[in-house]
Parts: sequence; C-alpha cells; structure tokens
Amino acid sequence: MPRTLAPEQCAELTPTSSPLAELDADVVVVTAGTDASGVLALAEDALAIDRASGGALRAALERGGFRPAWAAQRFVNLPGTPFGAVLVVGTGPEGGRETGPAGGDPGALRVTLRERRHALAAGVAGLTGGRVAVCAGGAWDTLLVEAAALATYRFDRYSDRPRPAELLVSCARLPGEDELAELSSRLRSVCFARDWVNLPGGHKRPEASTALLLEEAGSSGVEARVWTTEELAALGAGGLVGVGQGSAEPARLVRLTARGTNGGPPLVLIGKGLTYDAGGVNLKTTWLEHMKLDMGGAAACAGAVFHAGRRPRGRTVVAWIALAENLMSATSYLTGDVLRMHAGTSVEVTNTDAEGRLALADAMSIADAGNAAALLTVATLTGSAIMSLGPRTAAVHSADDRLSAQLLDSAAAAGESAWRLPHLPYLAESLRSHIADLSNVGTPQGQSMVAAEFLRHFAPAGVPYLHVDLAGPAYNMGEPYDGVPAGGTGYGVRTLIELVDRL
Ligand code: BES
Ligand code: MN
Ligand code: ZN
Repeated sequence: MPRTLAPEQCAELTPTSSPLAELDADVVVVTAGTDASGVLALAEDALAIDRASGGALRAALERGGFRPAWAAQRFVNLPGTPFGAVLVVGTGPEGGRETGPAGGDPGALRVTLRERRHALAAGVAGLTGGRVAVCAGGAWDTLLVEAAALATYRFDRYSDRPRPAELLVSCARLPGEDELAELSSRLRSVCFARDWVNLPGGHKRPEASTALLLEEAGSSGVEARVWTTEELAALGAGGLVGVGQGSAEPARLVRLTARGTNGGPPLVLIGKGLTYDAGGVNLKTTWLEHMKLDMGGAAACAGAVFHAGRRPRGRTVVAWIALAENLMSATSYLTGDVLRMHAGTSVEVTNTDAEGRLALADAMSIADAGNAAALLTVATLTGSAIMSLGPRTAAVHSADDRLSAQLLDSAAAAGESAWRLPHLPYLAESLRSHIADLSNVGTPQGQSMVAAEFLRHFAPAGVPYLHVDLAGPAYNMGEPYDGVPAGGTGYGVRTLIELVDRL
C-alpha cells in the first residue's frame, strides 16, 4: 500500500487506524463549539484528546476563556501529556446543526462533516511545519481528508512558505489501495491547477503554458496536440487569433485527450486560458494585479483531464485549452474591429475586454463536438458572476435541466459551491450588431447570462451544453478561508472529475 500519497506541494499524507490520542504528532488539530446554552462543547476529536489528557484540554480552554466562534483558534500546551501542542478550532454555536449526543457521550458536540472539515482545514492552513494529526472519525472520508491535505498546499516558488511535513489522519476504517490512488491523483490535479493559476502572467505566457500542459500530459497518460496561431488562422479562427494578436506570444490551442474504456461519446471541456487579461484597448482599470487568474477555467479542465488520464474512466474526456494573452499594444485588435469566427459568424468587437467568449467560441467550433455526451465551457468569464453570487460560488448556465442537475450534484459531491442562474434566451437579442452577425457585448445588465447566450450560439444543436462561470471561486483575492488559500484555489477540478462519472 502506498504510504505517501500527496503531491510535492502538500504534506505527506499518512492514513492510520491508531486513535488520534496515540499518534506521534507535533500538533493535533481538533474542533470545538458551543452547545445550545452557549457552553463550550468539544467535538469527538477534541473529546478524545481531553480524555487522554485526563480533562486537561477542557480545563485549559475554560481557564483561557476560549470562545469557539467559527474558525477561532487556540493553541493549548498540555504539560505532562504526550501531546506537543493541541490546536483547537471553533465551529461556532450548535444551532442549525446535526445535533444530539455523539458516540453516546452526552458531553460531545456533534458537528456536521462539512463544518468539521472546514474548521480543521482552517487550522491546518496556518501551520508552518512538523507532524500534524487530525481525526477523520469513523470511516475514511475523502472530502474531509482532501480538505485537510489541500490545506497544507503552499505555493513556494518565489519565497519560502513552510508547510507541515506530514499529515497523520486517524480513522476507524482505513481506505483501500484504490481509494488512496484515486485521492492522490485528485490532489495532484488540484495542486496542478493552483500552481498554474498562481504563476504570474509573465511566467506563463502561451508558450510556457503550453510546455507546462505538455509535460503534465506526458506524465499522466494524456494525448496532446497543439495548434499554433498560424494553423488557427488557416482554420479561420479569427476570434482566438484576434484576442491574442496584441501579444508577442500569439494564441494557441491545446487539445488534451484522456481515453476512456467504454468507447462511448466523450465529455468535451473547453477551458478559457487567458494567461493574462489586461482588457486590451479597453484597458482594465480594476483588478489588473489579479488578472493572471484568467486561465482558471483552463486549469480546472486540465486538472480534470489529467486525473482521467492517470485514472482512466469509462468515458473519454477531451479538454480544449484556448491560450492567449489579452494586451494593449501596437498590434492589438481594436474596439470596433469585426472578426470572422471559425464557425463563419462575423463578430463586432464592441469591447476588447470581452475577449474570453471570442476565444472560447472558436475553440467550441474547432472542437466539433456534435457527437459529444456533453459539451462544457469553463471560464473566468464575467465580473457579473462575482457580483451576482459572491466570490466563492460558480455560476452555472444551461438550457439542459438534466446536465445542470448532474453538474450541481457533482459540485455538491466535490464540496465546491455552484449555483444555477436562469436561462434567458431573450438576452441574446441584445447581442445584435449593425454591421456584423453578432456583437461580443450585449446589455450590461445580467452580463453572466448574456455571455452564456453568446457562447450558446456556437454550441452544436442536439448536444447537452453547459457553461460554468468561475470568475469568483477560481481565485481567492482575499484572505484564506476554510483552508482555501489566497490566490489559485483549484476550484472546478473536483467538480469536473465527479461529473465524468455522473454523465
Ligand atoms: N476575465 C474577465 C472577467 C473577470 C473579471 C474575471 C473579474 C475575474 C474577475 C473578462 O474577460 C472580462 O473582462 N469581462 C468583462 C466583460 C464586459 C467587458 C462585457 C466584465 O465582466 O467586466
Ligand atoms: Mn476581459
Ligand atoms: Zn478575461
């Protein structure tokens, strides 16, 4: 059985059936909240440590006046016990939770898995070294272990960001070899996506990003093919080529294929891979310092297809990665230009900052997905999606109820937040142009939906089509929360992985 199963950006992960209190760790991370009457209540993991310490943990917390508000943290040293340090993380009041005595212990606070994993992850995220122990409870739970493992992720390419060396996970039922290999591959895909998003724009222009993808494809059993900008121009992909023409490194298209075992129709993913989005001639005035995030959709698709390559599924997964850099320069496409798309459609560029839909539309029609089981576009497409749903939730757009339900189920299973926005065909009317077939910007109201309508224009008839706008959750512009780091989050990788098996 593989003992080490975390990618190099994370702590080494060691599952064990030894009880939490018996693990040889430098820091034990446990959770506590308050019961219905507002009194400090220890969750099962904290209770185990409290018992092993002869009640010293509870006594220390009470003495120190610890108030276990959500994500509040307190280090407790317990002299005379085997525990180096115990980190207690708050889960807040019990109200609205799955309540009742846990494990037959009337003193125990019962927290839901969701709350426990986020609290544990928030605790683990702040640690800078050592052997860290957490408890996964009875059965091995992938979501909880994944959250704790990913909370040890550090992007340390440019400066030291020390992480815990080892994560010990205590659970009554150990995972099998296959479960571990599956988890290991998922972690690797999420870390790949985070790393790629975190790389500064200047270090991941289209050529460098292509190299990154080809390298990971090679070690993941994924077939790759690259189209240069000349080849794209010859194909008539005026949208993708136009978006990239202001850059010294013009647009490219990369196709990544992970062959399935059942020979059935593939899942086709189209990822927006804007390695940097300055807005073009319509130069952005806000968030320029974050616009390396604009390949977050491509990162989610790539992560999912690399996992499918390492862990072949029934269904074939094909990811098309549209790479370009949207700059303002002497050769940039201009506001008011008319582009001829691969599909033959002419598009008036009313705003060069609405570049993602142009790049995606050409990738969609080149992908020729008429026989796909489903077609998805995944993109950091609009600021409007962030304004509508906040920064932690992706917007889902589709006319297909079944595919929407499958995607939302997948997101729930992956522990990622997604919400369906309405399908409003009338908004497409605002995409009319006086001189071309379409304009790339319609009404400013409901832009996430308007952009989805633009893309839908390029989807093949009869194929279930869905668009995910992950402009918010792909990248954390603020402070870490729930163990999710600042910067690239790897959002979407696990949802898409789940979707492959749910189609
Ligand atoms: N990449 C941006 C969307 C974005 C904005 C992602 C903020 C993450 C944070 C996209 O290319 C864009 O600029 N969209 C414009 C469209 C508008 C010009 C119609 C937007 O949403 O403002
Ligand atoms: Mn833009
Ligand atoms: Zn963009």
